[in-house]
Amino acid sequence: MAPPVRSVLPVVLLGCGGVGRHLLRHIVSCRPLHANQGVAIRVVGVADSSSLLVADLHSNGLDDALLTDLCAAKSAGSPLSSLLSRGQCQIFNNPEARTKVIDTASVLGKTTGLVLVDCSATYDTVGMLKDAVDCGCCVVLANKKPLTCTYEDFEKLVSNFRRIRFESTVGAGLPVIASVSRILSSGDPISRIVGSLSGTLGYVMSELEDGKRFSEVVKAAKSLGYTEPDPRDDLSGMDVARKALILARLLGQQISMEDINVESLYPRELGPDAMSTKDFLESGLVQLDKSIEERVKAASLKGNVLRYVCKIEGKGCQVGLQELPKNSALGRLRGSDNVVKTKQPTSVSRVEIYSRCYESAPLVIQGAGAGNDTTAAGVLADIVDLQDLFHKTD
Ligand SMILES: NC(=O)c1ccc[n+]([C@@H]2O[C@H](COP(=O)([O-])OP(=O)(O)OC[C@H]3O[C@@H](n4cnc5c(N)ncnc54)[C@H](OP(=O)(O)O)[C@@H]3O)[C@@H](O)[C@H]2O)c1
Ligand SMILES: *[C@@H]1O[C@H](CO)[C@@H](O)[C@H](O)[C@H]1NC(C)=O
Repeated sequence: MAPPVRSVLPVVLLGCGGVGRHLLRHIVSCRPLHANQGVAIRVVGVADSSSLLVADLHSNGLDDALLTDLCAAKSAGSPLSSLLSRGQCQIFNNPEARTKVIDTASVLGKTTGLVLVDCSATYDTVGMLKDAVDCGCCVVLANKKPLTCTYEDFEKLVSNFRRIRFESTVGAGLPVIASVSRILSSGDPISRIVGSLSGTLGYVMSELEDGKRFSEVVKAAKSLGYTEPDPRDDLSGMDVARKALILARLLGQQISMEDINVESLYPRELGPDAMSTKDFLESGLVQLDKSIEERVKAASLKGNVLRYVCKIEGKGCQVGLQELPKNSALGRLRGSDNVVKTKQPTSVSRVEIYSRCYESAPLVIQGAGAGNDTTAAGVLADIVDLQDLFHKTD
């Protein structure tokens, strides 16, 4: 028999794209596991870019059948309002949806508590998240953007560090943030973090070693679902820079995006202001082949390979291409294609943390660092990790 429920965690989910839908499916499929641990997750609301679906007041949240249908509906491109006919829920369209999220945070913050989960990919949620923090709610993020706005916003969001989790913002499911936090709280000063933190760029760089053309590799990465719809979002290095900024701020650096040195893999002339995604894919990308091939060759002559690396030190942050010995740990880092031949190559991330205790032998965290499934699993672990704050006091 399952033990009594000790912690009920009400959740409002912002964003039900690739990651958000996987999260909902994980929540449903993990019900028996969580029940065994005395934990129950109640999804009281789910929002996308245009609306918010909320469970009826005093219900136990949206039921599992509805959550499953919600995932199917969103996958098929239907709006959240298509689920209204199921009963037990209400819909609010923007801008009322926003107000409703904040109202819910304010009411539940005072009573049962609430976990506001951000699996969107926008800056727009930062206001709601800050309001939720003010109401005493917990926050879980897969979305990096709220933590990479102004330093004041970052400070506000992490002001109660026990109520926020953002493990999946860096290295998807890999426990990078948790490791950094543990080292810091033990009083061991971190001097340096070095890593390969882009699933997309990791894949692209390792494919180039086999002599493949840059343009072909980027297109392949796109068709495997590894890149953003516009691959320039990855090739600009901005996604890696956001991860680097989150880590740097964790280390106490009061810096912003402008302070990070970011190397873009395409020039301004091929940027989003100058040409459409379609034109970039059809004619822009090939213009980059020659120069990248030359860099790969030049590195190879010296026994080196190119890796897109982020480096965080006392002096600041750098994000860009680096030549590394072929047999160094980062140089050997490849997609898992050479491990399991039958499987799709996945992208592998690696982070090395140097501190007083980990100086000659850094703490290394390595593994699959991207993907909807892994990222959603990281988000779920973050939610469950908050259970002690939701203990029933009866
Ligand atoms: N996939 C990965 O490997 C990975 C790894 C680590 C971190 N992440 C992060 O996880 C987040 C989600 O990624 P994804 O691949 O799931 O993105 P996605 O498929 O583009 O989904 C984004 C979702 O956010 C919704 N949304 C947009 N604006 C919103 C708003 N103002 N309020 C509420 N929802 C809003 C979108 O609504 P519509 O459905 O209406 O468009 C969509 O449902 C991103 O921040 C990403 O960087 C992803
Ligand atoms: C993640 O989910 C999105 C939306 O369903 C999909 O387009 C993308 O290909 C998925 N990514 C991977 C790596 O499977």
